[in-house]
Amino acid sequence: LGEGPLSGRRIVVTSGPTHEPIDPVRYIANRSSGAQGTALARALAALGAHVVFVTGPAAVPPPEGVEVVPVETAGEMAAAVEAALPADAAVCAAAVADWRVEGASAQKMKKTPGGETPRLAFTETPDILARLAGRETGRPPLVVGFAAETEDVVANATAKRARKGCDWIVANDVSPASGVMGGAENAVTLVTTEGAETWPRLPKAEVAERLAARIAEALT
Ligand code: C5P
Repeated sequence: LGEGPLSGRRIVVTSGPTHEPIDPVRYIANRSSGAQGTALARALAALGAHVVFVTGPAAVPPPEGVEVVPVETAGEMAAAVEAALPADAAVCAAAVADWRVEGASAQKMKKTPGGETPRLAFTETPDILARLAGRETGRPPLVVGFAAETEDVVANATAKRARKGCDWIVANDVSPASGVMGGAENAVTLVTTEGAETWPRLPKAEVAERLAARIAEALT
């Protein structure tokens, strides 16, 4: 582990999408690449933190120098985050599925000629961020969430911060015009107790470094 302002600090980072099974060979997922969460974990480790990197099946490999906990589903991610506590900070950058398939089939669903078309029923997944932020004991002193917004970024992110009970929200403008989804850059507004700061459009690695520096500042 490197020396730095976060030496001796333990930080949990969630990243990537989750996969929610329909049956053993099919799943529901979302388009998160895991790029921003991965960059953030790398930047925190570079400042000396022990990073527990709880990641769904991402398109990019995990960074070096972090403790990788691979998971598939939202339920597994919630359990892994719980198991990683206590921590000095938690950053929820994962794009967690909001719903999972209720009563997922234990066997592969078969298409039979003239057979019925299956209908899926959904049930909510645990909100990992809200749970962490709402813990009565063992709440990490700094809990950071992300918010993907396509309009009214500051107002929506401020409302989300209150609703989730977290300390900071990092809001991304993911409107199609922004080109952020799957791109190399990010356009971020950081909402804290102090208010909202809009950062210039920056490479994801630089967003990560700025955010890691802010986290280091907040923990010292
Ligand atoms: O409610 P929404 O999905 O927009 O909130 C996004 C934030 O909440 C992100 O930080 C995401 O990682 C977190 N989240 C979570 N568990 C969920 C849903 C979202 O931790 N089930």
